[in-house]
Amino acid sequence: MFFSLLEEMHKKRDEYRCFAENELDEGDHFPYENLAKAAERGYMGCPIPREWGGMGESFLSYTLLIEEISRVCASTGVIMAVHTSVGTYPILYFGSDDQKNSYLPGLARGELLGAFALTEAGAGSDAAALSTTATAVDGGYLINGCKLFITAGGEADLYLVFATLDQSQGVKGITAFLVEKSSAGLTAGKPEKKMGLNRSHTTELRMDDLFVPTGSRLGKEGEGFKIAMSLLDGGRIGISAQALGLAGAAIDFTVGDMKSREKEGFKVEQNAAFIIADLATRFEAARLLSYSAASVKQSGERCTKEASMAKMFASDLAVEAATKCLDLCRIEKRTSDSPLSRYFCDAKVTQIYEGSNQIQRIVIARELTKITGLA
Ligand code: CAA
Repeated sequence: MFFSLLEEMHKKRDEYRCFAENELDEGDHFPYENLAKAAERGYMGCPIPREWGGMGESFLSYTLLIEEISRVCASTGVIMAVHTSVGTYPILYFGSDDQKNSYLPGLARGELLGAFALTEAGAGSDAAALSTTATAVDGGYLINGCKLFITAGGEADLYLVFATLDQSQGVKGITAFLVEKSSAGLTAGKPEKKMGLNRSHTTELRMDDLFVPTGSRLGKEGEGFKIAMSLLDGGRIGISAQALGLAGAAIDFTVGDMKSREKEGFKVEQNAAFIIADLATRFEAARLLSYSAASVKQSGERCTKEASMAKMFASDLAVEAATKCLDLCRIEKRTSDSPLSRYFCDAKVTQIYEGSNQIQRIVIARELTKITGLA
């Protein structure tokens, strides 16, 4: 099934590459213009069904989209990936009819930007340890707590916030809520000063006695942790695509540099040729892992193991490719305004967010052995 899709997907890749290379800018501010152009093409709702305002594309097609966008601007890539896989899908999968009618068309058309608020200071890798509380009150809940490292914090229109109704119940107390940007009691911090992906704002998100009506709870009480984990399966495929974009761009840039040096009469050393051959081979392997994880997700089967493998392998490759390509290119290509510098700085976080690669190893091992006690 996967291979019979290739021809159609090649055409899609060409379309997405043409868009990314010709329409996206590489500025240094939050990429409002890039997101607006993506929205005009329908790309903010690429895999969302047409009946909800999306393009109705497959998850594989969406994976190619994030890869191609990330070749040019990985910040735009991650904002779109988070918006889609953990900002829009939650409502499609778990939303009530009212929630779908209220938010899905706006999110799918890119009129609204979605974000995901799970991480806290004491709950990064151990997401179940979150301490943001939700207290039942007349007509809804009061939420109190502080989230960290929220992609598109302060820019998003709708946040999926995870809070606990009863910490003593562990994961069974965690519940998901849809919180609108304008809610009283919601404050986004200043964008963090990061080493890379600087166009994608990452902020703290505070909630002080923030009232959420019962109708804004996503799913049932206590279902939040499973909702978060199942969404992250798809989210991690998006991050693998982002990493593929960075790795592929670094390799292509370096091959271009080698060719131009050869034209100028310099010999490409065999060691350099071997390094680029190894990187290009591993890049194709990373693509296969990502695309096959996307195909499993599209089939409706659980893709936990495949997503973690794809995310881990592609993000490790992105860091390795950016590092080795910096070594291989001539010295003038190593300045801070060179694309290589951007690939290098942007790649690192793909090993860290949406679950660090250590967490991916735990997830893969648990899926293989079914031993949940693996720490
Ligand atoms: N799908 C559905 N359900 C799942 C699931 C999945 N993929 N994974 C776990 N569950 C269920 C389990 O079946 C279990 O349910 P039961 O009790 O009914 O059996 C329940 O959830 C608890 O699962 P675990 O016992 O495995 O939970 P745990 O506390 O041991 O945690 C973990 C597991 C994998 C380490 C998890 O904490 C984790 O993924 N941590 C990383 C967090 C993360 O990825 N954060 C990303 C933040 S968002 C981000 O980075 C976005 C961005 O800005 C780019």
